Amino acid sequence: MMSTVLDEDRLRKIKEKISQGMMPQWILNDPAIFDEEIEKVFAHAWQLLGHESELKEPGSYITRWLVHDPILVVRTKKGEIKAFLNSCPHRGMQLCTADFGKKNTFQCPYHGWSFNNDGKLIGVVAGDKVYGEGMDKEQWGLKPVPQVATYNGLIFGCLDANTMPLEEYLGGMKWYFDILLNRSDGGMEVRGVPQRWILNANWKLTSENFGGDPYHVATVHRSTVELGISPQDPLFSGYGYQVVLDHGHNVNINTGVPGLDIPPYQGMPEEMWPMFQKNLTAEQHDILSKCTVIVGNCFPNLSFLSPLHGSEGHLHNYLNMRVWRPISADKIEVWSWFMIDKAAPEAYKQASYKGYIASFGPSGTLEQDDAEIWARVTQASKGILARDKDLSYNNVLNYMMGEGKVEPLDHWDGPGVAYPTCYVDYASRNMHEFWLSLLTGDVNLRQSAVHSEIK
Ligand code: FES
Ligand SMILES: [Fe+2]
Repeated sequence: MMSTVLDEDRLRKIKEKISQGMMPQWILNDPAIFDEEIEKVFAHAWQLLGHESELKEPGSYITRWLVHDPILVVRTKKGEIKAFLNSCPHRGMQLCTADFGKKNTFQCPYHGWSFNNDGKLIGVVAGDKVYGEGMDKEQWGLKPVPQVATYNGLIFGCLDANTMPLEEYLGGMKWYFDILLNRSDGGMEVRGVPQRWILNANWKLTSENFGGDPYHVATVHRSTVELGISPQDPLFSGYGYQVVLDHGHNVNINTGVPGLDIPPYQGMPEEMWPMFQKNLTAEQHDILSKCTVIVGNCFPNLSFLSPLHGSEGHLHNYLNMRVWRPISADKIEVWSWFMIDKAAPEAYKQASYKGYIASFGPSGTLEQDDAEIWARVTQASKGILARDKDLSYNNVLNYMMGEGKVEPLDHWDGPGVAYPTCYVDYASRNMHEFWLSLLTGDVNLRQSAVHSEIK
């Protein structure tokens, strides 16, 4: 595929357009942009690897990806979580080919070298005979992921040792993650395994859809209205707040159609309500008690959705976390985790899981709606007209919803800048502006001066 030459002039023009609420369409499907994103965004950003509940005991392991790097995540004998490049230092074979399991040593399928789950080389086939007794095994251990850290059970990895610490990177998002992950005793657990599938879509599109686009719900998911699951009011997914955070993170808090009877706490069982009061601050509790949906994106590619969902006459909630793993400019691998409060009753967990599978699982009705759209937008963004070769920038997309019309709230109890509706484009612009500032080098994700001095 032809690629666009990314010179300073082009980047400056994109910046100018985005600041005016217009986005050149070709950035949604361009190989040169994609290569830059890998080097300037994904090589430095914190990305989700999984959840602690997937590594229940010492010896548990899961295999994941950080974009193009295969990663082995383990719980060691001491109970620590570590992550390594899942590639043997002898000839590069993928060391562990299973998705998950339990073992304390890993033997490479190619020539049989073996490693413990601290990453140390502990066995070499015919070692003394072919490498001599003096072989320095210390030198040939697995390559560790430069940074691994957890927040409320979520395990993140970062490919850059100099990126700011995870909590600083999450910034204001921590406050909203607490509502989703830390509201009940014992936190959340992953049920089943993360499902994954390939979509012909650009990762920015899917991140933006969760982070800043409740506007699409009334149209794309219109079947829910026709079935009587969602209200008739076309503004129904706009009521609430859109919150714009540092580092390109965004959250939308839907509160439902005013005047309609909204079940408290997203339909979670009454016996759990006292936990929410105990574990959350008054402000966080207020949000959880009144919201219908919390949906957002942790930059760059970790989206989340916590809906109030009804099926078979029951209401339930779940937390769907998903990573949009970029494969190319027009392809992603979706990783989708179903998470539920550990403290929830078993029957509720099962009903909720069924609800997730039917809605946002890979064959879920709502998932199918979105997948179709994302693929068609991506496809329409690589042609001659979309590419806008002459730099005239006539082909720009509209990111102006709310512009000059909706002002931020004077007072908001949580971090970030909040708007009194989710039908605005401030979150999408926040994400794209931060993305572009990383591409142009105007900002970086390195540790601040203070942190480097401490080091
Ligand atoms: S590649 Fe792993 S032992 Fe040779
Ligand atoms: Fe959707």
